[in-house]
Amino acid sequence: PENMLLDSHGRHHTYLRISLTERCNLRCTYCMPPEGIDLQPEEKLLTTDEIVRLAGLFVEAGVTKIRLTGGEPTVRRDFQEVVGRVGGLPGLEQLALTTNGIILDRHLPSLASAGLAAVNISLDTLLPHRFELLTRRKGLHRVLHSIDAALEAGIPTVKVNCVVTRGVNEDELLDFVEMTRDKPINVRFIEYMPFDGNAWSSPKMVSYAEMKSTIEDRYGPMSRLQDPMTEVAKNFRPEGHAGSVSFITSMTEHFCSGCNRLRLLADGNLKVCLFGANEVSLRDALRGGASDAELRTIVHGAVQRKKARHAGMFEIARTANRPMTSIGG
Ligand code: GTP
Ligand code: 5AD
Ligand code: SF4
Repeated sequence: PENMLLDSHGRHHTYLRISLTERCNLRCTYCMPPEGIDLQPEEKLLTTDEIVRLAGLFVEAGVTKIRLTGGEPTVRRDFQEVVGRVGGLPGLEQLALTTNGIILDRHLPSLASAGLAAVNISLDTLLPHRFELLTRRKGLHRVLHSIDAALEAGIPTVKVNCVVTRGVNEDELLDFVEMTRDKPINVRFIEYMPFDGNAWSSPKMVSYAEMKSTIEDRYGPMSRLQDPMTEVAKNFRPEGHAGSVSFITSMTEHFCSGCNRLRLLADGNLKVCLFGANEVSLRDALRGGASDAELRTIVHGAVQRKKARHAGMFEIARTANRPMTSIGG
């Protein structure tokens, strides 16, 4: 249908990521500078009614999957209300959440009853001391508990996102793979990506090829699972494991040709690519009294202008974007 969010490269956008807040209860080094970021004043951020109205427009335009992100989405004051209202939009097939797992367990019963389809939990180390260095906070035991609690609560898909950084945690790959032996979780190793204020450099990035060979040296060849065109991860199953292991290879083997993702940021900007500085304010249009039809025109225009692929890691590292914490991944 003409209403669908098709870009000029033939990609159909059916997946919207909504950042609910720029705040976070951790301070991960790969995500924000040590001093944190300057938070935008409350009145610049979308209200819950505004989020629900915009999300509804996207769903009418063919979005079937929404992922709530942050900052840390669970620290939003009315997080539960957002889950209930966005999750209840007619036509939405999947509501998912990306979280650091620090205060996830208290929300799990209501998330499960709201029909949350998937939760992705960020965890980059299994060592308590290192967790503190990396996140500049304590709480490893809470995150580990949240992973088990999410499985016990019956959330259908539970993934662990592990950003691998040389000199920080690349020696823990095998310990993360071990987690998939008995638990039906998907552990995803993510290539370190450059964002404003995160001090990225290419030697700190551990490539897909390197990670895979480290793992296969120990576990033997892993069989590649079949992935849909829009999948960001390359998925594998180590022989005999209950869970699976994946790689998100944004830097060394981008997957932009299958991209189906759009991002609505906490301040109401629509960001059509993770690495594109091109953003358009839906908040200003909405607060200026735009009708649904006018908002739709703005969204379609931005989607039309989406680039075929990102510019490559060195170019991205040189180009101003935002800190990751205000994008949400
Ligand atoms: P699934 O829906 O389970 O596939 O999760 P997801 O990978 O879409 O979302 P998640 O929030 O778990 O993000 C995991 C990693 O993938 C993060 O490092 C994201 O920045 C990265 N990622 C997510 N979407 C994109 C994308 O469109 N492009 C790129 N390059 N990376 C992405
Ligand atoms: N590179 C790769 N992944 C990142 N994430 C945050 N910052 C980076 C980065 N610089 C991941 C988080 C979270 C997801 C939304 O994005 O670990 O799981
Ligand atoms: Fe999509 Fe941009 Fe990510 Fe490529 S870098 S997959 S175009 S969001």
